[in-house]
Amino acid sequence: MSALGVPDVLHHARITGVGAYRPRRVVPNSEIVAAIDSSDEWIQERSGIASRHRASDDETVVAMAEHASRGAVEYAGIDASQLDAVLVATVTHPYQTPAAAPELAARLGSRAAAFDISAACAGYCHAISVANDMVRVGTAEHVLVVGVEKMLDFTDPEDRGSAFIFGDGAGAVIVSRSEVPGIGPTVWGSDGEKKSLITSRSSWMELAANRDLAWPAIIMEGPSVFRWAVWSMATEAQRALDAAGVRPDELAAFIPHQANVRIIDQMVKALGLPKDLPVARDIVTTANTSAASVPLAMERMLREGEVAPGGLALQIGFGAGLVWAAQVVTLP
Ligand code: UT7
Repeated sequence: MSALGVPDVLHHARITGVGAYRPRRVVPNSEIVAAIDSSDEWIQERSGIASRHRASDDETVVAMAEHASRGAVEYAGIDASQLDAVLVATVTHPYQTPAAAPELAARLGSRAAAFDISAACAGYCHAISVANDMVRVGTAEHVLVVGVEKMLDFTDPEDRGSAFIFGDGAGAVIVSRSEVPGIGPTVWGSDGEKKSLITSRSSWMELAANRDLAWPAIIMEGPSVFRWAVWSMATEAQRALDAAGVRPDELAAFIPHQANVRIIDQMVKALGLPKDLPVARDIVTTANTSAASVPLAMERMLREGEVAPGGLALQIGFGAGLVWAAQVVTLP
């Protein structure tokens, strides 16, 4: 019997391009407060959010992903035909099947392997880990990774606990074979016993059986999620630093999931990050875009010159599941 041919050489992988798409329409807090008996002051003080982008009917999950992907492909200096895989992290593509990724690949003129990843606000960091492993083993040389959400299609504008939190948008990166390491080990995990903390209000089957049920918007037990994030996620971020052998003073940026500016501030404190370290606070004008939040924040920091290409960034995603993933990456 002949031996199975398998790759025995590991390559390095790094992020070579980043792109973003923010929907045209900006919705300030003043437009949403009446429906939830709230105020601009309360929302800004409790979450840091001042406004969010809201996608229109033509700005679908796939359309937003396409815009962001074209930017990432151009930044990386490759042609979409060179992509070997397309990974889309999303929980708001409105079709149970097919996935968003094959349609996105086709729009880009690619016939690469394409599939979606469902890990909520941690989806992008999960996809980076998968893409990194694909490139390292040699399954792919260039992988498109997209985090994209149309959260406001799945938000109840009258739900006080979530109506002000979410926003729409897309961020994309290219993970490519590299001469030097550019993506550190991923630290990740799940706690499915806490599945009810962030969840759809009902399943599609429950809705089908009872058409009087409300639209299955995403709802959450905010304070419980807040405590979990503040207590547990800094530890996971520290583990990602340790796994990569990187000290806080060697970082060029901290890019955590944009869930709440108070969670970000607490994590900065718990990690003991240097006072002058650039920290992503894209949440102020983008709100919480779930899987899109980390790549959107990274794109803004690079575009606005807050950080330079080549620096090390600690990134972490966490959310519904509950699930989380973190790694240190070299900025493109
Ligand atoms: O992306 C996935 C991960 N998601 C997260 O990480 C979200 C984590 N959670 C949070 O960010 C926060 O829990 C929220 C921003 C959602 C809420 O902030 P909070 O400080 O936890 O508020 P709370 O729910 O504990 O409510 C505090 C007070 C209550 O009044 P009393 O009982 O103190 O009199 C609420 O009734 O604020 C009241 N309240 C509101 N007031 C104005 C609750 N929601 C609102 C509102 N507007 N929308």
